[in-house]
Amino acid sequence: MTSHFLFTGGTCAIGLLIRSVLSKPLLQSPRLLCLLRTSRKLTSKMSFQYPQAYRDDAVVDDYHGCKVPDPYSWLEDPDSEKTQAFVTAQNQLTLPFLERCEVRDLFKERMTELLYDYPKYSCPFKRGSRYFHFYNTGLQNQSVMYVQENLDAEPTVFLDPNTFSDDGTVALRGYAFSEDGEYLAYGTSASGSDWVEIRFLRVEDAVPLEDRLERVKFSCMSWTHDGKGLFYNSYPEQEGKSDGTETSTNLHQKLYFHVLGTPQSEDVLCAEFPENPKWMSGAEVSDDGRYVLLSIREGCDPVNRLWYCDLQTTPQGITGLLPWVKLIDNFDAEYEYVTNEGTLFTFKTNLDAPRYRLINIDFASPAQSNWKELIPQHDKDVIVFATCTYSSYLFVCFLHDVKNVLKMYRLSSGEELRTFPLDVGSVVGFTGRKRDSEIFYYFTSFLSPAIIYHCDLTKEPLQPHIFREVTVKGFNPSDYQTTQVFYPSKDGTQIPMFIVHKKGIKLDGSHPGFLYGYGGFNISITPSYSVSRLIFVRHLGGVLAVANIRGGGEYGETWHKAGMLACKQNCFTDFQCAAEYLIKEGYTSPSKLTINGGSNGGLLVAACVNQRPELFGCAVAQVGVMDMLKFHKFTIGHAWTTDFGCSEDKDQFEWLIKYSPLHNIRIPEGNGVQYPAVLLLTGDHDDRVVPLHSLKYIATLQHIVGRSSKQTNPLFILVDTKSGHGAGKPTSKVIQEVADTYAFIARCLNISWVK
Ligand SMILES: *[C@@H]1O[C@H](CO)[C@@H](O)[C@H](O)[C@H]1NC(C)=O
Ligand SMILES: *[C@@H]1O[C@H](CO)[C@@H](O)[C@H](O)[C@H]1NC(C)=O
Ligand SMILES: *[C@@H]1O[C@H](CO)[C@@H](O)[C@H](O)[C@H]1NC(C)=O
Repeated sequence: MTSHFLFTGGTCAIGLLIRSVLSKPLLQSPRLLCLLRTSRKLTSKMSFQYPQAYRDDAVVDDYHGCKVPDPYSWLEDPDSEKTQAFVTAQNQLTLPFLERCEVRDLFKERMTELLYDYPKYSCPFKRGSRYFHFYNTGLQNQSVMYVQENLDAEPTVFLDPNTFSDDGTVALRGYAFSEDGEYLAYGTSASGSDWVEIRFLRVEDAVPLEDRLERVKFSCMSWTHDGKGLFYNSYPEQEGKSDGTETSTNLHQKLYFHVLGTPQSEDVLCAEFPENPKWMSGAEVSDDGRYVLLSIREGCDPVNRLWYCDLQTTPQGITGLLPWVKLIDNFDAEYEYVTNEGTLFTFKTNLDAPRYRLINIDFASPAQSNWKELIPQHDKDVIVFATCTYSSYLFVCFLHDVKNVLKMYRLSSGEELRTFPLDVGSVVGFTGRKRDSEIFYYFTSFLSPAIIYHCDLTKEPLQPHIFREVTVKGFNPSDYQTTQVFYPSKDGTQIPMFIVHKKGIKLDGSHPGFLYGYGGFNISITPSYSVSRLIFVRHLGGVLAVANIRGGGEYGETWHKAGMLACKQNCFTDFQCAAEYLIKEGYTSPSKLTINGGSNGGLLVAACVNQRPELFGCAVAQVGVMDMLKFHKFTIGHAWTTDFGCSEDKDQFEWLIKYSPLHNIRIPEGNGVQYPAVLLLTGDHDDRVVPLHSLKYIATLQHIVGRSSKQTNPLFILVDTKSGHGAGKPTSKVIQEVADTYAFIARCLNISWVK
């Protein structure tokens, strides 16, 4: 059974960017700087003098007979002096520009002194006899895990990730308690890298154990119920470093069983796929402890193989490759374990159901003709998660036009019992397992940071009550409003979009707009609370818009498929139509509009800037995928071919070359048309989307567009140190990054601070 609470790391290889990047300049060495010459000749016409990066015209790749130059491929080596000098020179251009923005300090002050400094709690959850939760007093770099004997007892600090490092850059990444709650396995990751080290604690006295598991990445953590040990994943040793600054590809992930109290070298190899180097697996022990379910994926698509092992067939224990039963041995659909009663298993699946349904499979008669539907697919709403609580109930969370709905069903019959009332917004946390008799769920929205509800399932009639509600001083939500609109894309598809602004504004096109999107990997962008965006609305007089473009999971697999592979252009078109809608309705105008996205959303922003430079005043792309011809060669990039395709295939090359940000930069036609102000953000330890994407893109952009006399808007990049793709980023870096981002926007769009 999957848990759904905040602060756990997912395994999806590209992952949603929640918060990202940057701050201080890289350490500078004058010697390195000499490698870069700056051009004097063009100065008089240029607004900015960009570092002149060496172009290696000899590098030309042949894709199916098509010759594609790659003059900045030398930037793919993160360790070369040339690359480091390039990064230093870029930061030295960007930082002084940001430092001269008045808004930067005001923004940081507002974040630090008031708006971000509110208490942040997770849902409590019970393990063994104790309750745990995460809590951040406000500005702590990392949230702290607390323990309490019961809900009324005083919570005490159990595990404080702020003590993992001096500067807050080592974060907790995933954890799992043993069945009896007496042992904790937890992952740590340094500088935002995806590499994890698993450590162990005895819960009773929080005493650390000596066990350490290394080379762990995109791992499950699942204990056997006898408490002997846990399943996890690791990668084979590789040449060179593995600290998150390397770009080497991640292949041949394996599943191991670690026996508590033994060295990692003695861990038992339980599953490997030598014939299929891209496969990644995750083990989950069933609620009753009898089965190990193995879910195998080869990319980011919502499909998996489902193998299992009945531990009763291994009486000597786990001593080698497990005798897996291959229940589902293809990648046709997704099967997610919900629970089981003996041999009767409940799965959430998208088999013949793009919006998902629940089915029962009896392992004693597993033929597909015997499968039974428990909760059918709904007409419009998508199942986001389903979990069994208090033995006999199912809690199912739906997405209805991008708003969450929480319902309760009877496990035995699939009968719908009730709907839990929720405002317009998102359920971002849910705790309550099969053995628990209570649930907690965490609600959030654009204007409401957090309401945690508690419902005791033993008390009829069931009545959820507010366990905790957080308000933010200095910000009055009733001054603002959230609207959901549906605008037509170019092909007529209705796209949902949330718009947040101060009540009573005049729609005269005068307001700064901030448009955010993602569009990919089945990720749904549901309403969320963002202090930095609210400061933009409050103090920069802005209008915030979040467009739920195709490629996401907002309306299930159909919506996802409509924005991937050969249809990827739909994402960009949807986003451009969102901008046109905001302009047409008078929310903003092109010269006042900023677009923003990270990761796959960084690709979105860069592709849109290339395609419609005149439509935007400013563009901020974080940790973006920019080189669509080569992304599959670095770290976990190969897992994204499910959404993007791969240039090694001729047809897919044709899709990719049409929109690849790196390969579609040209000086815009038309008098007075130029690129918007561009800011790219990345971090030196981003081993999800390696920084070379942003480096090559900015070098090309500055070379082609930056030398044009009509390009007066800046084209900048900022590369942070000890910083990764976003997960685990310390609060201090988050604050610095948003201050930099909005300072850049305010300066480029000439927006002044409203007291
Ligand atoms: C967070 O870390 C930064 C250094 O990265 C440090 O200056 C700051 O004091 C830390 N914040 C807190 C609340 O400990
Ligand atoms: C895809 O999105 C749907 C709807 O939110 C969700 O139920 C499903 O688990 C997702 N699959 C993956 C692999 O993320
Ligand atoms: C910037 O804004 C100020 C006040 O809002 C205005 O007076 C000034 O003309 C603007 N500058 C430009 C270049 O648009």
